[in-house]
Amino acid sequence: MRRTILVTGGAGFIGSNFVLQRIAAGDRVVNLDKLTYAGNLGNLASVQHNPDHVFIQGGIEDEALVQSLLAKHQPQAIVNFAAESHVDRSIVSPEEFISTNVVGSFRLLHAALAYYRALAPAAQAAFRFLHVSTDEVYGSLSRSDPAFTEEKAYEPNSPYSASKAASDHLVRAYYHTYGLPVITTNCSNNYGPYQFPEKLIPLVILNAFHGKPLPIYGDGLNVRDWLYVGDHCLAISLVLERGLPGKTYNIGGDSEMANIDVVTTICSIMDEFHPSGAPHSRLITYVTDRPGHDRRYAVDSSRLKRELGWSQQETFSTGIRRTIEWYLANTAWIQEVTSGDYRRWITANYEARGAK
Ligand code: NAD
Ligand code: TYD
Repeated sequence: MRRTILVTGGAGFIGSNFVLQRIAAGDRVVNLDKLTYAGNLGNLASVQHNPDHVFIQGGIEDEALVQSLLAKHQPQAIVNFAAESHVDRSIVSPEEFISTNVVGSFRLLHAALAYYRALAPAAQAAFRFLHVSTDEVYGSLSRSDPAFTEEKAYEPNSPYSASKAASDHLVRAYYHTYGLPVITTNCSNNYGPYQFPEKLIPLVILNAFHGKPLPIYGDGLNVRDWLYVGDHCLAISLVLERGLPGKTYNIGGDSEMANIDVVTTICSIMDEFHPSGAPHSRLITYVTDRPGHDRRYAVDSSRLKRELGWSQQETFSTGIRRTIEWYLANTAWIQEVTSGDYRRWITANYEARGAK
């Protein structure tokens, strides 16, 4: 069934992959994005003139704007990707994380509820508010702990994960108190095309390409679970279609890896794709750790697999090759996102850690 979806944050990394996927599948997308440093219309160049993509620059905290978009476009679903998403930035300047992730999500829920209440019963039955969250809300695991299930108590440790946890709680409250048909998904670390190169994988690909140091925080043994962005977006579509209101679904990649192993894997693929006369691993540089750095995340996606039939298409070894190929082929996109603001962030973050 063709749907109109209000996507928030659809010019960011995961949001733009989702928008492209849904338009290709025949949906109509109304895309509300504030275009912060992380938002980039270049991600959506291929649908710029497509009538099924309506772009509006604005914030989710602007309730009047959200209300007018809902009234005008009458979407069957809202998918909320809009957020401040980088842990290191949340440590340096947490305030924006509260404004967008907490207050913004609250205002979006408030506008969604007013819209939902005015719908006819059949439209109410079909309506969904899907909130995209993170595994980081569950806290940090030791090496022997079981992976996060949806029942794991929240124990966020960074301003980023605390602000996402707060928004998840508000989403839950809007279901229990007001009956808004919400679903929350908690995914692990995504990687793939269009990821802003402040996050580990694209940063390491770009630095390796330019022969710059590859910064590893602390001892490099922190573990993350890696999920290919295309698989994540397919999971979100499945949850929209078949997920139950009030429920939470974890989405993981079954690819737990220590950061140093991620970086050495990228180095050996770069040796093959972009040989530079010496192994790229020579660029690995250990730098000062992130304060409060969570040791390990691992995600148990068995509910999503069992109840909704999800399975992933990419393993880490296939997904990382596709990702590196994409970055090497898209130099114009990289040029655009690595100007001004980006350079200022890289200088501030890495000089303070002792890497130049
Ligand atoms: P991103 O930082 O690449 O993109 C965020 C987008 O939201 C940008 O386009 C930005 O302009 C927009 N935005 C920011 N504030 C806004 C506001 N107030 N109103 C409207 N738009 C606003 O983030 P991402 O990596 O694509 O993450 C998307 C979502 O997925 C986030 O909610 C994040 O918490 C969650 N998530 C991401 C990952 C990951 O690995 N990237 C993992 C787990 C969960
Ligand atoms: P990141 O991509 O920022 O995602 P998150 O903090 O949300 O998991 O970081 C992934 C891991 O890589 C995390 O353990 C921190 C580490 N890291 C580095 O070692 N060096 C870096 O330059 C960056 C950005 C991250």
